[in-house]
Order: sequence, then structure tokens, then C-alpha cells
Amino acid sequence: MRRKVTVVGAGNVGATAAQLIAEKGYADVVLVDIVEGLPQGKALDMLEAGPIWGSDSRVTGTNSYEETADSEIVVVTSGVARKSGMSRDDLINVNKGIIESVTREIVKYSPNTMVLLVTNPLDVMCYVAYKVSGLPRHRVFGQSGVLDTARFRTFIAQELNVSVADVDAYVLGGHGDTMVPLVRYTSVGGVPITELLPKERIEAIVQRTRDGGAEIVNLLKTGSAFYAPGAAVAQMVEAILLDRKRVLPTCVYLEGEYGLNGIYMGVPAKLGAEGIEQVIEIDLTNDERAELDRSANAVRELVGVTGL
Ligand code: NAI
Ligand code: 2OP
Repeated sequence: MRRKVTVVGAGNVGATAAQLIAEKGYADVVLVDIVEGLPQGKALDMLEAGPIWGSDSRVTGTNSYEETADSEIVVVTSGVARKSGMSRDDLINVNKGIIESVTREIVKYSPNTMVLLVTNPLDVMCYVAYKVSGLPRHRVFGQSGVLDTARFRTFIAQELNVSVADVDAYVLGGHGDTMVPLVRYTSVGGVPITELLPKERIEAIVQRTRDGGAEIVNLLKTGSAFYAPGAAVAQMVEAILLDRKRVLPTCVYLEGEYGLNGIYMGVPAKLGAEGIEQVIEIDLTNDERAELDRSANAVRELVGVTGL
């Protein structure tokens, strides 16, 4: 049987992720959206790129869930962006409703799937999907850290004029202002970044990383980032489909790790055929732990808005 990945939400992030997954040819891709014609049109366009990519992935678009049956992974990008007059709490509750209904449909047709959340606020939406799906925690997780870390690596590579391939870094915590770029674990070709850049330049890069999403929104004006988020999703999907056991920063339901319980947060995790195969705990200094706790409190406050 051919492998199947579903992407819910055929907007900017969903379509970009679907394209990157289809281009690799590892699996068939089903694109779902509520807008009639949108997923069908984008899917057909991608299918017609197959001969050029050299990919036999069958890409289909739909407004219902029958075609998603037996998906190995479902990527969820469906949601709305904040509109004028809408508070942050309104946005959370609108997207909560969307994630609840989408998750029910997903597990109805693919009861053993993995759900990879992207919709914001990410850490909260992961929690919603986890609660509604009834799936074990290793099958419900979110993308944020791969993107935040990629932004951190990009800015460091630019600053030092080195290849991005040689920059290793980690960004933990919630996907928001309180994310925790771990400077102590950041290196270039194995050399700690603290040996290569003065403190104030590192601080400026950390702040730019925290503001990375807003920087793109300010430039685009009518939407948010999607190329790097789409690439981040595709990397996580590949790690699972190819059972690569990649260690990637992933938004995971914590059950005591890092002293945190019952909350979704970005931490290093091993991703393979079983989904989250291991949550990796690294030693943190008191200051780093305090930052992670601050981030956890911010996530808890947002989850509180949902009443869950
Ligand atoms: P977009 O507006 O381009 O696409 C969202 C799509 O969801 C639209 O096509 C819409 O019709 C669809 N949709 C809405 N309700 C639906 C439902 N009930 N069922 C199926 N489809 C539905 O937005 P974009 O740029 O693709 O972003 C998607 C989400 O991802 C947003 O919440 C955004 O904030 C978030 N995001 C998260 C990132 C992360 O790192 N976790 C990075 C970038 C975006
Ligand atoms: C980002 O970080 C909007 O979460 C999205 O670009």
C-alpha cells in the first residue's frame, strides 16, 4: 500500500509543506481545506509538477475527510489569523474550535495516525488536539522549534559569514516571545558561539530570533511566514517517514521532563517511525530553567483561555 500524508489547510504553510513532501516522493499527499476548489486546484497543480520533479506522489485535494483515510501523518495548518476587532482570546477560541472539529475528522478516518500541529498558538493547539484525539502523546506533537532554530542559525551564519550547515543551535520553550534560544548549546563548527561573538551581538541575535515571526509579518503585511515553516514541517515528516531518528526541537506533551507536567512545550525529541520516540533532557543552568519556566507559565496562561 502506498503511504499517505494528509495536510489540513491548503493555505500558505499547508500548500508549501505539501509541495515539499510531494516533491520528495516519499508518500501520496492529500490536501484538505474548507474552501471549495482551493485544495483541488493546488493539488492538481502539484501533481502536474510531478514529471518535472521526478516524483510519483499522487496529490489530491478535497473538502472532506474520506480521502484522508489511513494517513500515516496528518499535518494541521488550518486556522484563521487575527482580524481587526478580534482579541487574542477570541483568536484562540476560534482556532480551538477549528482544531477540535478537524481532529475529530482526522481520527475518525485514521485512528492510528500521527498529528503534527502547526496552527497558532501552537503550544495550545497541540494541547487541544491531544485532548480531543485520544491518541498517545508520542503521536501528537507540533512544529515550532525547527523553525525558530532555523531562524537562529540563519542569523548566526549571516553574522559570521559561515555556512548554515556548520551552525548548531537549539531553541526551546513555547512558540512565542518567551521562547528560549540556548546560547550555551550553540556552536559553529563545534566552537561555542560565546568564543566567536561578543555578548551584545549574541543578545541582539537572540532577540531577532524571538521576533522572527513578527519581522516577516511586518514585511508581508497580509500574512505570516510560510517558506521556512513549510520546510520545517517537511523535515519533521521526512524524519518520521524514513525513520531517521532525527533529534529535532519539537513541541511535545511533557510528563515530568524538565520539571514540567501536563503542558506542551518545545524540547529536543527523537523523531522516527513511532513519532516521538524519546524526549531528550539536557542540563540547564538555573537561569535557563527560569526562562523555560517563564515560557511554560505563558503557555499555561494561554491554555487557560480555552477552558480546557
Ligand atoms: P492561511 O490563512 O494561508 O491558511 C489557513 C488555511 O486554513 C486557509 O486556506 C483556510 O481556508 C483553512 N481553514 C480554515 N478553517 C479550516 C477548517 N475548519 N478546515 C480546513 N481548513 C480550514 O494561513 P497560513 O499562513 O498557512 O498559517 C496557518 C497557521 O499556521 C496559522 O495559525 C499560523 O499562525 C500558523 N503558523 C505556525 C507556524 C509555526 O511555527 N507553528 C509558522 C507559520 C504559521
Ligand atoms: C512564525 O513564527 C507566524 O508562528 C509563525 O512565523
